[in-house]
Amino acid sequence: MKISVIGSGAWGTALSLLLLENGNDVTLWSYFKKECEAMEQTRENPFLKGIPIPEKLRLTSDLSCAGGADAVIFAVPSFAVRETAKKLAPILSPKTVIISVAKGIEKDTSLRMSQVIDEELHGSNIVAALSGPSHAEEVGRRIPTACVSACPDIEVAEWVQDMFMNERFRVYTSSDIIGVELGAALKNVIALCAGCCDGMGFGDNTKAMLMTRGLTEIARVGEKMGGRKETFAGLAGMGDLIVTCTSNHSRNRRAGLLIGGGMSPQEAMKQVGAVVEGYYAAASGFAMAQKCGVEMPITEATYSVLYKEAPLRETFTSLMTRAKRHELEESWL
Ligand SMILES: NC(=O)c1ccc[n+]([C@@H]2O[C@H](COP(=O)([O-])OP(=O)(O)OC[C@H]3O[C@@H](n4cnc5c(N)ncnc54)[C@H](O)[C@@H]3O)[C@@H](O)[C@H]2O)c1
Repeated sequence: MKISVIGSGAWGTALSLLLLENGNDVTLWSYFKKECEAMEQTRENPFLKGIPIPEKLRLTSDLSCAGGADAVIFAVPSFAVRETAKKLAPILSPKTVIISVAKGIEKDTSLRMSQVIDEELHGSNIVAALSGPSHAEEVGRRIPTACVSACPDIEVAEWVQDMFMNERFRVYTSSDIIGVELGAALKNVIALCAGCCDGMGFGDNTKAMLMTRGLTEIARVGEKMGGRKETFAGLAGMGDLIVTCTSNHSRNRRAGLLIGGGMSPQEAMKQVGAVVEGYYAAASGFAMAQKCGVEMPITEATYSVLYKEAPLRETFTSLMTRAKRHELEESWL
């Protein structure tokens, strides 16, 4: 199959290697010409040190590589999905299946990434999403991983499953693209908050609380937006939340650690040096919660710290001292 991977960050590169291994004809597109040239020279992505890029993987900064492809993978950061889709619209053939792997929600519109792509392509192409607990650093090293391929058309989800699946990368299918994309985007906010708590010297109890209650609020808003509650208990919900809140590979958690240690959010984003999706998702998640009238206390607290200069410790205390509740009062099960 002819596949174009759009976005040569850590994830786009790791997925290109996987798709190449699965026998596909793969081209990896870089936004920055310099990024492409450096990878051509070193045959390595600086975010994936020690993982060689075989000669068979074509590298380009020319978007026309997506013309006539069987599948196009959107692996650019969420803030760049709309502009990239706009540029791709005149290039794509209608038969090309689009697979979004970007994890985010558009801030002003509260749209999921597959919806943003669909809008820019005027509904001309089928759009699926692939998500789950999958750090590029591990997938690039062929460490066993599982994800979910989601599309309202289950046959397309199965086609995507076949494309990615191998003995080290297991893929499940789902027709709930809403739940899969919302779980993917919103868990980054909880991970950033979990990082802040680690940075402040809090413990495992705190993290377990944040993960459990974080999933509750994600599922609450997710169901309101049309997702299925079961999806949030799956790989794209709980699975991704666990890995992002606990792993040292997580940029969201790393950014939080720095903020918890006293750095300003802006400095922390700079220091991490790669896209920290939770930073953007805190604003879009907060806006989404307001729009649909759903309580998301952890997301709201994280948003205040990141964007409103709310003091971290006091904000956390106010989260702990919210009105008393029965545990199942706000449950998603
Ligand atoms: N890294 C992971 O392990 C991982 C896993 C699953 C999903 N994702 C998701 O994949 C997406 C990409 O993440 P990443 O980790 O590969 O990012 P990254 O930080 O490694 O790389 C970002 C890439 O975006 C490119 N870029 C910057 N501005 C751009 C623009 N305006 N238009 C197009 N491209 C631009 C840069 O050139 C760079 O290659 C994110 O939404 C992320 O949540 C990442």
